[in-house]
Amino acid sequence: MSVNHFLTLLDLPSSDVLGIIDRAAELKKNLMLVKSQPNKTLGLLFEKPSTRTRVAFEVAMAQMGGSSIFLNNTESQLGRGEPIEDTARVLSRMVDCIAIRSFSHIALEQFAKHSLVPVINALSNDYHPCQLLADVQTFIEHRGNISGKRVAWIGDGNNMCHSYINAARVFDFELLIAAPKGFEPNRQLIAANNSRITLVSDPKQAAVDVDLIVTDVWASMGKEAEHAKRARAFNSFKVTPELMSLANSDALFMHCLPAHRGEEVSTELLDSPYSVVWDEAENRMHTQKALLEYLLN
Ligand code: CP
Ligand code: NVA
Repeated sequence: MSVNHFLTLLDLPSSDVLGIIDRAAELKKNLMLVKSQPNKTLGLLFEKPSTRTRVAFEVAMAQMGGSSIFLNNTESQLGRGEPIEDTARVLSRMVDCIAIRSFSHIALEQFAKHSLVPVINALSNDYHPCQLLADVQTFIEHRGNISGKRVAWIGDGNNMCHSYINAARVFDFELLIAAPKGFEPNRQLIAANNSRITLVSDPKQAAVDVDLIVTDVWASMGKEAEHAKRARAFNSFKVTPELMSLANSDALFMHCLPAHRGEEVSTELLDSPYSVVWDEAENRMHTQKALLEYLLN
């Protein structure tokens, strides 16, 4: 029996991904519509810290009448060297779905290959697909269909940027990426999507006439030691009201959070009417609930 996993946005048919976002909007309006999942358990295996992703999953399971079990690396035998394949074989005989936050994306794929139940990428070094479900829900909620729109990614060519590249394909929007030299996203991923992606080195060039500007921290989890070097390289990549003024007048600003106020985004912009980051954070819960409903049924 084949199992549906959600390791990137491309793992499910585009129509199903859109269906999950529609469902999330429905569940946001009426919590009582959620399909109850009594006796279902979600395993959460996290190698990195989390606030939004973890709480969204745990609250979603609780609201569906199921339960969740959280394990970090130091609490599980993974931290003592139990092979990932064996952990997958064992856990997937006990729980109904497993969300993993890992460093290595390959390890995540390895886990999924040996899991009997659906595996969700709760962020890896390469992708963060759950965040994109919430970002697209948030765009639709504020501005309608995202298809055909222009989106600017300003900053690191990281896991979030890679998921935006996949999202441009799934949701059919144009993506302009401004990243400093040496911090561009994966070349193959750009090449595979070059009809929708434009890579530039000047944030101003990316921001002109777009409908959405998105950024993220300059040093992702695991890259903290490079912070000083990155701060120098990203110095001209801060998103400010001035940069935002180049975008369309009704453009939105998003950030997956946590943000470093005053670094990649000015406090003024984060707290401005352009910014929909709090809706974006709340929508993590609605989209992850809809995703669980989809994968558990
Ligand atoms: N945006 C996001 O994934 O946040 P957490 O790291 O708090 O889960
Ligand atoms: N790019 C960031 C996203 C955090 C939600 C990181 O990986 O740390």
